[in-house]
Amino acid sequence: MRILVVGGAGYIGSHMVKMLLNAKHDVITLDNLSSGHRDAVLGGVFIEGDLADVTCLDHVFQQYQPEAVMHFASYIQVGESVKKPDIYYRNNVTNTLNLLDVMLKYDVKQFIFSSTAAVFGEPDYVPIDEAHVRRPINPYGRSKWMIEQILADYDKAFNFRSVCLRYFNAAGADPDGELGERHNPETHLIPLILQAASGRLEHIQVFGRDYDTPDGTCIRDYIHIVDLCSAHLAALNYLAQGGESDCFNLGNGEGFSVQEVLDAVQQVSGKSIRVIDGPRRMGDPARLVANAHHAHSKLGWMPNYPDLMSIVSHAWKWECKQVS
Ligand code: UFG
Repeated sequence: MRILVVGGAGYIGSHMVKMLLNAKHDVITLDNLSSGHRDAVLGGVFIEGDLADVTCLDHVFQQYQPEAVMHFASYIQVGESVKKPDIYYRNNVTNTLNLLDVMLKYDVKQFIFSSTAAVFGEPDYVPIDEAHVRRPINPYGRSKWMIEQILADYDKAFNFRSVCLRYFNAAGADPDGELGERHNPETHLIPLILQAASGRLEHIQVFGRDYDTPDGTCIRDYIHIVDLCSAHLAALNYLAQGGESDCFNLGNGEGFSVQEVLDAVQQVSGKSIRVIDGPRRMGDPARLVANAHHAHSKLGWMPNYPDLMSIVSHAWKWECKQVS
């Protein structure tokens, strides 16, 4: 198929482009390079452009006639979204509407949307299934929940079919070592600990040790980037075969604490890491763990790298390349 990957130069998007190319799809990447990297797009057509630029969008659809769209281009920092909700709603909501407008205009009605565990807010129970109430607690989560609701309405009104994939904690790197996480600034736990292990960072701060968890640190469900991408491929096949619009939680169903991640990085890297205990970070739920049974049964998706050690090992390989 001809797939338009919006945000294909970013962390998740670039791994997706590689997987789509390996699966022999034709790929068109659109990215404004605000946080992505041109050299992370390993093939296909690349267009530097912004979702705010409707003329550019029109041109892309007219020239390349994509049959399906994957949308990875959004702002992702929870804390920043609280301070700058305007740019979060403009980019994550308004710009997504621009994309949906042009898709409708060109009658492209297969859409895979990057959503997030943040649509659930503070969970009532874990593991979190799709039936769990959506009650986001910050503008980032609300921006994603708004698009999920818009997509449900578009389905009813326009027969516009979409799959919303709610990522828990995307982590790891391309096992071949060609791609990895390169956020600037980096805020995610695993790459930060790895940077502390490689010497790029002086220390890592643990945000709170007084949570109601066995070791007092927060528990998250880390999902390997390649598994995340294979879920998109499964979603693409599902839509291509006429599957109805749906939302899926994506994780391994197992949580690891911040301390367990620290231990795993020390084991994999063989380095000792300077750790400073800090206060809780605002808005961090104690536990976020996915129930991904719906994705297993309806998309036929199963993770290949569910263990934390392979997630950390692949990310460590990438980190070593950054400092060599
Ligand atoms: N943490 C630290 N120190 C750090 C960074 C993180 O202790 O320097 C802790 C956090 O407090 C949290 C855990 O490590 O408990 C994971 O934090 P991340 O920032 O790596 O990831 P989050 O769980 O906060 O966020 C992820 C995605 C968001 C998404 C959210 C869903 O990155 O985009 O999951 O709730 F919104």
